[in-house]
This record gives sequence, structure tokens and C-alpha cells, in this order.
Amino acid sequence: MSYILDIDGVNKTFGGLHALSDVNLKIEEGETHAIIGPNGAGKSTLLNCCIGRLIPDTGTVTFNGKNMIGMPPYDINHAGMVRVFQTPEIFPDLTLLQNVMIPALAKRDGTFKFNPFKSLAKEKSIIKEAHATLADFELDKFHNQLAGSISRGDKRRLELAMGLIQHPDLLLLDEPTAGMARHDTNRTIDLLNSDRMKTMTKVIIEHDMHVVFSLADRISVLARGHIIATGRPEDIKNDPKVKEAYLGESEDE
Ligand SMILES: Nc1ncnc2c1ncn2[C@@H]1O[C@H](COP(=O)(O)OP(=O)(O)O)[C@@H](O)[C@H]1O
Ligand SMILES: [Mg+2]
Repeated sequence: MSYILDIDGVNKTFGGLHALSDVNLKIEEGETHAIIGPNGAGKSTLLNCCIGRLIPDTGTVTFNGKNMIGMPPYDINHAGMVRVFQTPEIFPDLTLLQNVMIPALAKRDGTFKFNPFKSLAKEKSIIKEAHATLADFELDKFHNQLAGSISRGDKRRLELAMGLIQHPDLLLLDEPTAGMARHDTNRTIDLLNSDRMKTMTKVIIEHDMHVVFSLADRISVLARGHIIATGRPEDIKNDPKVKEAYLGESEDE
């Protein structure tokens, strides 16, 4: 079995706090892997160690057979590991179409140092793909609106579209439905389960169990910086260690 992402022996401390303790996690090609755990467990820290926003104290992160440690976030993104953030990072003063075109142009040209709207007429194929991607997310009807003006749920889906247009080998999602109303959450679940996204390799950090069990092929549970369980949803659901971590205390305490 070869793994698209191999996190091996990762430790990360902040001052005296051990945020990640010897974390080992292997992500299989094509799977949707959820990382769950109580607040403060280290989930975002782990993602940040993968995408180069944090450097682990020890351990390795291997993506597509290449060591990512020490690589800057932009290069890791360019290597095909794309993260969608907990707070949408979009360009509020640009239109939705422009928002989706920027990562597509950056991917093609290998740089963010350009003026993407100088030669817009030449960008026909990217414009076409940007419209199609917006349509996949039911956002094309807003393509000419400013991204700052759409609803919170639509902003999060816009960010997903911005990730998807880069054709990532691995998509990392940090709480993609946080703060969404139930019907918006269900729309996002349907999108993540759609033909275009279903078989894309994904790591999803999520604490909404409805979302986790709707999407995940496998689940890893992080508690106080340790991976305490990895397995199929059914096994995780019935794992007493997991129940204990979530309740904060065991039943017989
Ligand atoms: N930059 C930082 N500096 C100091 N402590 C941090 C930093 N980032 C996270 N932490 C701490 O590390 C622990 C794990 O945080 P985090 O990874 O954000 O947890 P989660 O995403 O699971 O809620 C928490 O105790 C948090 O306060
Ligand atoms: Mg977090």
C-alpha cells in the first residue's frame, strides 16, 4: 500500500504545551479521512504542520513521496496539497468569477505575481473552467457579484471552489461546515459527496458527527495531541477510548 500523505512521529510544542505527541497518520489515495477530537486536541496544529504554516519539532511529513518539512506553504500548495481554511480566505472586493480564476491562473503560471485581469480576454479556457466550477457549487448565478456580498455559507463554498479548481491531489478541509445552519451543512455534504469530489483524496477536520459519518471512509481521533484511534466509522463509533475522550471522563469515574 502506498500512501499519498505519511505523517510520521510528529511532535509540536508551544512553550510547555505538548500540542502534538508522536502523531503517526497515513492517508490512502482516494479516501476521505476525518480527523475528529475535542476542542484544543491539536487538529488545526496538525494540519498546519502538513501545509508548512508550522514546522514540527520532530517527525516527518511525506506527500507524494516527497518530504514537505521546511518547504514554504506556497510550494506545498503547488505540489498539490491544498487547504481550505476554517475562516474563508477569499477576496471580498473581487467578483466570484475573479476569485475562482486567481488560484487557477496561479496554478498554471506558477506565481502569484501577476495581474490576472490585464489580459482577461486571453484567458478563455480558464474563464470557462471558472464558470463550470462555480456552477458545480451552485454559485455561477452570482459570478458577477462581489465575494464580500454573498452569504457565509456561499463564501465557504466559494473557497471550496477555489480549492477545487487547482485540481489538488489532496484537499485538506478545516471544519468545512463550522457555523453553518443545518440545511447549508447538508448542501455542503452533498457537494463533497458529488461525482466531482467523492473520489478526491480528502482530510476533513470536523466536530459535527453528522458530517463526519456522512463523509468519512476512515476516522482518526485526536485527543490532547495523541492519535487514540484510527479506523472505519463503525469501529470508531463503538470505541470506548473515543467515548471517553469526548465525554472528558469515563462512565465509571
Ligand atoms: N500558535 C500557538 N501558540 C501557542 N499555543 C497554541 C498555538 N496554536 C495552538 N495552540 C494550542 O495548542 C493546542 C491545540 O490547538 P489546536 O490545534 O488549535 O486545536 P484544535 O484545532 O483541535 O481545536 C491548544 O491548547 C492551543 O491553545
Ligand atoms: Mg481547530
